Amino acid sequence: MMHLEVFRTVPEATHRMADLLAAQLEERPGSVLGLATGATPIPVYREIVARVKAGRMNDWSRVTTFNLDEYVGLSGEDPHSFTAFMRLHLFEPLHLAPERTFMPPATGEELEKRVRAYDEQIHVAGGIDWQLLGIGRNGHIGFNEPGTPLDSPTHITDLTESTRVANASWFGDDAGQVPRQAVTMGLATIMRSGTIVLAAFGGNKAAALRRAFAGEITPALPASILQRHPHVFVIADEQAAALLP
Ligand code: F6R
Repeated sequence: MMHLEVFRTVPEATHRMADLLAAQLEERPGSVLGLATGATPIPVYREIVARVKAGRMNDWSRVTTFNLDEYVGLSGEDPHSFTAFMRLHLFEPLHLAPERTFMPPATGEELEKRVRAYDEQIHVAGGIDWQLLGIGRNGHIGFNEPGTPLDSPTHITDLTESTRVANASWFGDDAGQVPRQAVTMGLATIMRSGTIVLAAFGGNKAAALRRAFAGEITPALPASILQRHPHVFVIADEQAAALLP
């Protein structure tokens, strides 16, 4: 079941997302959350931090988090890593205990083996209750690029040229600096989440959003698998929703 909600502005949309998360944490203070990086969640994280600090949302002391993805080869010390992004925007402001914030392994020995173990870690933590997603202009979720099998577990993936170009702004506008590979939760991993909240802001997401939710379910548009999920909220601004029927 997909619930589409369209908002006039990004701040209105981010308020709604924070409301959805607040309700989740109210019901289950020890929730396991799946988290995303990128431009889309930044205002959402800002709103969450403000609410927690003001006592308007449950504190996160019992929450466990698992992030969707990380660039292969970047350690948490690298400011371009998603680990650094999460520390900056959420983990440090909320004083989250490092042992409760999981990032996909992306460096070091026996990487493939540790990558394969990520889904098991999620399982042991109780499974993801609430998963935040953005969507790529090419329809990726996490870094499940077009062509990824719909039943994929957490895996190492080659980033497409379009994704490296889309993310170049984080690397001094030089797509050549964007790592070629990433570790990502698979589509099967994402589909096991209890509730999914996908956010899409801006006109450059409109075509992907239309193909994801008004087209056929196909590996060519990885987000289309979400049509099979029983509990998805799609939170869009008017520009991103412009091509939806
Ligand atoms: C990030 C992620 C990606 C992004 C997507 C949109 O953890 O998994 O799928 O959500 O690339 O990125 P932004 O929000 O920067 O447009």
